[in-house]
Amino acid sequence: MDIEAALEEIGRAPNLERLQGLKVHYLGKNGQVTQAMKTLGQLPPEERREKGRVLNEWKRALELALEAREAQLKEQALQAQLEQEALDVSLPGYAFPSGGLHITSRIVLELVNIFRRLGFSVVEGPEVESEFFNFDALNMPEWHPARDMQDTFWVEFNRAAEEAFTIQGPFGEDVTGLGGAVLRTHTSGMQIRYMIQHTPPFRIVVPGRVFRYEQTDASHEAMFHQLEGLVVGPNITMADLKGAISELARGLFGKEGKARFQPTFFPFVEPGVQFAMWWPERQKWLELGGAGMVHPYLFKAVDDYRERQGLPRAYEGMTGWAFGMGVERLALLRYGIPDIRYFYQNRLSFLRQFRG
Ligand code: PHE
Repeated sequence: MDIEAALEEIGRAPNLERLQGLKVHYLGKNGQVTQAMKTLGQLPPEERREKGRVLNEWKRALELALEAREAQLKEQALQAQLEQEALDVSLPGYAFPSGGLHITSRIVLELVNIFRRLGFSVVEGPEVESEFFNFDALNMPEWHPARDMQDTFWVEFNRAAEEAFTIQGPFGEDVTGLGGAVLRTHTSGMQIRYMIQHTPPFRIVVPGRVFRYEQTDASHEAMFHQLEGLVVGPNITMADLKGAISELARGLFGKEGKARFQPTFFPFVEPGVQFAMWWPERQKWLELGGAGMVHPYLFKAVDDYRERQGLPRAYEGMTGWAFGMGVERLALLRYGIPDIRYFYQNRLSFLRQFRG
């Protein structure tokens, strides 16, 4: 056996497996050194001692070499692993895509916050509404031509649905009997619902989805949003309405913002107006909604309903004003969006532009 060659082979072992193989090869039970030691007994004493000494030296040398190489290989492996797993804590992290509020939600919040500052509460109402709250109680009986202004989605209940679904009135009572059911064509129905449930004075705004049976095009969608406002109290006047809408104009368009009012007709207000806001940056009037003094018919309808519920009449001697405006309409004009249908196609390339 060539000890020099063996030591060199161990020193060059490329990996731990190979090293283990060499260990077995030389020092294992049937290894070369072990075998040679077994034959010592057959030698004459003089030779045996000499050969024994040499074999022991070899064995020791091999063990040391194996140990040294093993340590080396392990160190190399550790270094390689450290290099591979190296973590550069100064690298920028992964930016996970984050969601954001839809442009409509942003505008609703902006509007609502302006009114919150003026002491208004924010309330919401049902989207499937009784014909009574959407039309009749708002001074729009079945035969009223004003109903044509709002092409309506009527909701048909089949027997199964009727049992599972009833329209609830302001106190949770079933009002399915009060005419048919509609997808609300405006948020004005909440004027009635809120007045039935509360006694004046109060100030509320009502954001929400509304639906019209429209042929959709760049400026018409079958679903859009409105913000309704209602203020009722003992001495509420048209001047208060003008003040609030003017304040809204300043909230939206800065201190140069102002509002303009022109007479128009809605069955549930008298007098009725439409209002526009001055956009100083563009030197333009934006037609944004309708408003007016609450029609006495509404107070009567509300008090009659309250009386039927065993509640005291609460609206005699009261006055109030209401307004309604289109949420998408404001966004369309202010951002120059050419087509209302973009709002609900959920294309990220559109929505991302309004992340604020
Ligand atoms: N509800 C009306 C519409 O949808 C707007 C409006 C609300 C007008 C309140 C007057 C008062 O067109």
